[in-house]
Amino acid sequence: MKGIILAGGAGSRLYPLTQVASKQLQPVFDKPMVYYPLSTLIEGGVREFCLISTPHDLPRFRQLFGDGTRWGISIDYREQAQPQGIAQAFRIADSFIGSDSVTLILGDNIFYGGDSFFRAFSEFTTGATIFGYHVHDPERYGVVEFDAAGRAISIEEKPKQPKSNYAVPGLYLYDNDVVAIAKALKPSARGELEITDVNLEYLRRGTLHVQRLGRGFAWLDAGTSSSLHDASAYVQTIEKRQGIKVGCPEEAAFRRGFLSLDQLHSLTASLPNCEYRDYLAAVVSEGRRLGGVA
Ligand code: G1P
Repeated sequence: MKGIILAGGAGSRLYPLTQVASKQLQPVFDKPMVYYPLSTLIEGGVREFCLISTPHDLPRFRQLFGDGTRWGISIDYREQAQPQGIAQAFRIADSFIGSDSVTLILGDNIFYGGDSFFRAFSEFTTGATIFGYHVHDPERYGVVEFDAAGRAISIEEKPKQPKSNYAVPGLYLYDNDVVAIAKALKPSARGELEITDVNLEYLRRGTLHVQRLGRGFAWLDAGTSSSLHDASAYVQTIEKRQGIKVGCPEEAAFRRGFLSLDQLHSLTASLPNCEYRDYLAAVVSEGRRLGGVA
């Protein structure tokens, strides 16, 4: 399965921070925001990526990730010249997707906990898999309604009167039909190619799977100053308490087997002297102690 990270938009709600760096490059505690969604997809087993951003911000992402080789992954880059909606990503990345299935994650969505995603990725075959997460302010999101048997029966984008408290987070898994579906979409009233319309098409075809994310699972978005601060505080709390990092792509790549212990070791040695390096060095030592197994 291929992976798209969508890191576009003007980030106007974070102005003036976003005058100097795009939203997805802002720090969430100890690393750039985009590290978190990248790690989520690596943990899901995705190895080939396409990062989509604005022509203005794309060079920064290239600087940050290069072609991905040092992390045992590949990263292509594509421009989204105009912000015309999440589903536009499938048109932009058409040649990257080829005939594969594809997952898309939003560059400002941070997920933590449980094995729901891991299972969703490993069990995915056809159709679409999306998620439902209980929130107190569903009107800000795509909202999914379930019937008594737990089947999804409707999805609405930012409804004034939400039919449930289940918001659809910014992580979507699709079979290859998504490319044709995205190409056939018409812009919504707000002038965007809506991801909700893609999901509705799968719902109409009877091939949409919606998994509810249970208690104990964290989904944070970091699009406003206050939510950015909350996300940082959350990550700091977990990392301090557990002594493990959230959203560490190098570690995720190692645990997925994309990097060998030796490769992780040389990568770690190339980093400047910092707490992040100390952490990876500890992962290497632990790996050695366990005889090279993650
Ligand atoms: C977008 C989607 C919405 C989804 C949300 C998740 O909203 O349109 O369906 O629930 O991402 O973050 P937007 O970022 O356009 O407000």
